[in-house]
Amino acid sequence: MKYELTKDYLTGIDMIDEEHGKLFDLANECYDLVMDDAAVDRFDRIVALLEELRAYAATHFAHEEEYMERIQYERRFSERYQHLRFIQKLSEINLDDIDENQQEYLLNILDFLARWLYGHIKVMDCRIPKEDVAAAK
Ligand SMILES: [Fe+2]
Ligand SMILES: [Fe+2]
Repeated sequence: MKYELTKDYLTGIDMIDEEHGKLFDLANECYDLVMDDAAVDRFDRIVALLEELRAYAATHFAHEEEYMERIQYERRFSERYQHLRFIQKLSEINLDDIDENQQEYLLNILDFLARWLYGHIKVMDCRIPKEDVAAAK
């Protein structure tokens, strides 16, 4: 395990925090597999995990966007824009490039994903108000 979601990255909104946790679980699972030279068929599993991560990120963004829409959060459009850019970046990753010799390539991808997630959660998601706070405004 490499990527840790410490408490400074919690938004205080349970659904969102749980989903962020799951994104990091997937990134860690992928990292462990990249590092495990002995695992059989690991590249197929890594490709499957990266696909799962991509799909789960899209699901999470949709949930977060629904939540922001519901509370009429004023920064929801810039959040959405960042989500779209991330999904676009992910789709530019060519998983066909992965072969047995590309551990470094995979680690770079994972680091990019994790850095983006850490930055986005800290700078953007942590500012999203809890529903009761938003309603009280
Ligand atoms: Fe977000
Ligand atoms: Fe998020």
